[in-house]
Amino acid sequence: MNPVPRHVAIIMDGNGRWAERRGLPRSQGHRAGADAVTRGLEVALELGVEVLTLYAFSTENWKRPASEVSALMGLLVEFLASKLPEMRSKGVRLRTIGRTSGLPAAAANALLNAVSDTADGGKITLNLALNYGGRAELADAAKRLAADAAAGKVDPRKVDEGVFARYLYAPDLPDPDLLIRTGGEMRLSNFLLWELAYTEIYVTDCLWPDFSREEFLRAVENYGKRERRFGNHA
Ligand code: IPE
Ligand code: IPE
Ligand code: MG
Repeated sequence: MNPVPRHVAIIMDGNGRWAERRGLPRSQGHRAGADAVTRGLEVALELGVEVLTLYAFSTENWKRPASEVSALMGLLVEFLASKLPEMRSKGVRLRTIGRTSGLPAAAANALLNAVSDTADGGKITLNLALNYGGRAELADAAKRLAADAAAGKVDPRKVDEGVFARYLYAPDLPDPDLLIRTGGEMRLSNFLLWELAYTEIYVTDCLWPDFSREEFLRAVENYGKRERRFGNHA
């Protein structure tokens, strides 16, 4: 039995193309993408993945048309409301990373509510990256670290990788073992710039709404064959 990644991170890309290929509005692609989230979460639970981090909305996604942004925020609220009982019964703990206080109030409130209602979920952590940017995370960490240094709580001479990492959005979570990007683009799009340092990357042309159990299993199987060296000899 190949090793199962403890932490899987996914760049859920391709909703718009999925819709455009069907002559549908992009919002329908996002709706279909929400179903793929439910499916992916089920597979992660089945496999025993401990943390599933999903890139749902980036700090750059505000540049999209207001109608698309509001469709995405509406879907988030709808998803949280409709999936909360199931998340609770299945032991899902919801968390978020990103500047979530900068989301529209309805979305921010629904998130706070879902996070507190699932706080005792022990099977899997579903970590939603919302209004998330890797550079924003590093800048936010630097800002808080600088404030602690100015307040005399941190000695600047003692700042190292371990100290810095404690200021990231989710310092208690392990780094992702496997990054999956759907939609075929070979880029990080400002996702988890610090945490992905030694993550195994798997890119598939499959568009996010088409991401099936089989696709997920294929990615995990491929991960199982990788040789992780972390800079060490072969
Ligand atoms: C990813 O799908 C979903 C979000 C960014 C929220 P896209 O909307 O980026 O889909 P494509 O890349 O245009 O196909
Ligand atoms: C990355 O997808 C962001 C999310 C999946 C939320 P994008 O579609 O926004 O990224 P680019 O524009 O292709 O880099
Ligand atoms: Mg995209």
